[in-house]
Formats: sequence, structure tokens, C-alpha cells
Amino acid sequence: MTQPNRLVLTSDHAAIELRRAIYDHVSAKGWEVDDIGPITTESTPYPERGAEAARLVAAGQYQFGILLCGTGQGIMMAANKVKGIRCGVCMDTFSARMIRQHNDANMLSIGARVVGFGLALDIVDAFLTAEFEGGRHGTRVDMIKALEG
Ligand code: RB5
Repeated sequence: MTQPNRLVLTSDHAAIELRRAIYDHVSAKGWEVDDIGPITTESTPYPERGAEAARLVAAGQYQFGILLCGTGQGIMMAANKVKGIRCGVCMDTFSARMIRQHNDANMLSIGARVVGFGLALDIVDAFLTAEFEGGRHGTRVDMIKALEG
């Protein structure tokens, strides 16, 4: 059973400050957030960070996960290798809303070197407040799940 209202948050070294800002932002909105690091700005491989958070989401310990790296791309690719994860990189609020409404994404990735803090927080809000529409979109998400084998 997926834990509602719980988020896991991680990044590589390229996104430490944005991660802190997102932590404060979503905590203030009532989400229970676990920031699983890293704490230092030492180089940290994004595949490890993305995979760790993705496994926690796939195991049902969190409703959603938020991932950050320089572009958002590498950590998203790693997360999507974990069965049960649907993660999209979003640099705009429309996409962030749509990956929830149409794709039932359970993880969001943002590029900390691509978007500013204000937009990043709006992207997070768009993702977290949108709901999956189901119906024909559910059929398509089921097709994605079938590809996982
Ligand atoms: C780290 O320099 C950078 O490669 C990483 O943050 C990310 O952009 C990879 O996709």
C-alpha cells in the first residue's frame, strides 16, 4: 500500500541548494518529506541517488519522489530503470501537471541548472496538485507497465 502524503527527495551534487528550497516548500504545504541526501557538495553519482529514491517509491514507502540533478535527465533515466517507476523531467508547469494527469507519474525530475528556483517550486506544485485522470490514460499507462515484463 503506497503511503499517501509522503515524499522522498534526493539529488546529486549539482542541486543541493534547490533540494533544500524544495524541502522547505513542500514541508510548509503539509507533505511529509524525507530528504535522503546527499548532505555535502562532494561529487555524487546521480544514478545511485535516482535508483535509491526510485526503489523506495516502487516499494510503496512514498506516494511520490522528487529528483534533481544538473539537467534532471540522468537521474530520471536511472529512476525509470526501476520497475514501477514513471518519472518525467519537467521544466514547465504544463508538463508537470500532465505527467500526473495522463501518465500517472510517481516521480518528478527537475534540472537545477536549467530552471530557476521560482519556476522549480511552481513545477513541484503543479505535479503534486494534479490527479491522474484514468480512463483511456489508464489503458495507456497499463501498456507502459506491460513493457516492464
Ligand atoms: C553532473 O555534473 C551532471 O552530469 C548531472 O548533474 C546531471 O546533469 C546528469 O544528467
